[in-house]
Amino acid sequence: MKILGILGSHQEHGLNAQLLAEVLDNVDSGVETETVYLENYDITPHKYHEKNLVLDELAEKMLESDVWVIAAPTYFRELSGVMKNFFDCMRPKLVYFKENGDTIPGQFKDKHYLSLTSCYVSPLENFVTGVTDESLKTIDRVMSAGGVIKIGEIVLPGTFGMKTIPYNKKKLCKKYAKKISVRKRKDDSTVKRYIQLFFMIAVMALITMGIQVPLKTWIGTGFWLNYVSFTIIFFVLLACILHFVTFVKHRRR
Ligand SMILES: Cc1cc2nc3c(=O)[nH]c(=O)nc-3n(C[C@H](O)[C@H](O)[C@H](O)COP(=O)(O)O)c2cc1C
Repeated sequence: MKILGILGSHQEHGLNAQLLAEVLDNVDSGVETETVYLENYDITPHKYHEKNLVLDELAEKMLESDVWVIAAPTYFRELSGVMKNFFDCMRPKLVYFKENGDTIPGQFKDKHYLSLTSCYVSPLENFVTGVTDESLKTIDRVMSAGGVIKIGEIVLPGTFGMKTIPYNKKKLCKKYAKKISVRKRKDDSTVKRYIQLFFMIAVMALITMGIQVPLKTWIGTGFWLNYVSFTIIFFVLLACILHFVTFVKHRRR
């Protein structure tokens, strides 16, 4: 089992590097680790009919690893350019093209990844405005195109003036280190998703019926009026939850 850390920061020993090292230093014994600092590589796009030895070397490291830890700071509310350039150049190795131009996951399909990012703004501001969301979304978009499965996210806000990562983040890094040390099946979240769905529906039905109780004085006890009010209230709650899990699902603190 091997875990590859990919660091896309301007600083080789900055906070993202520290988060990444904290994860990799705490993986189970027997798990091999390696870190690539992207700034040390001359990463350029793949030109047709020309060999690109740098991309070949990096792809080889990615292929021989089971889990990738992708660490990149948030610059201008986006993923750092170094990491974005790496993803852009790697595209031909991440996806296969169909004849109609659509892409399908390539050679890295079913590998796993953990994302790390950081930003200057405070934990409260990041919680409210989601400055780090775009960085995490870009990583997810690229990984999902390549069929790579997500394990989790670590976010470090409030980095202005910070020299070393705080204790609570070290603890979180250690927790993820244990999690990524275990070889994963292709995608083992199916049962978890069904359990979440069950509880979501149970809670929404309870809230809907709770809202219906005071409405009974206006709508009476007729079957069809109760059915219509249940459907409308349930739909509004479902739309809110789906919006939340689709757009606001990223860790912000
Ligand atoms: C070019 C650049 C742009 C940045 N843009 C933002 C930003 O939009 N919002 C923010 O909160 N922090 C921003 N930052 C701060 C970085 O996210 C912060 O310095 C990061 O924690 C540094 O990580 P490192 O120590 O791994 O380099 C920016 C930093 C740089 C260098």
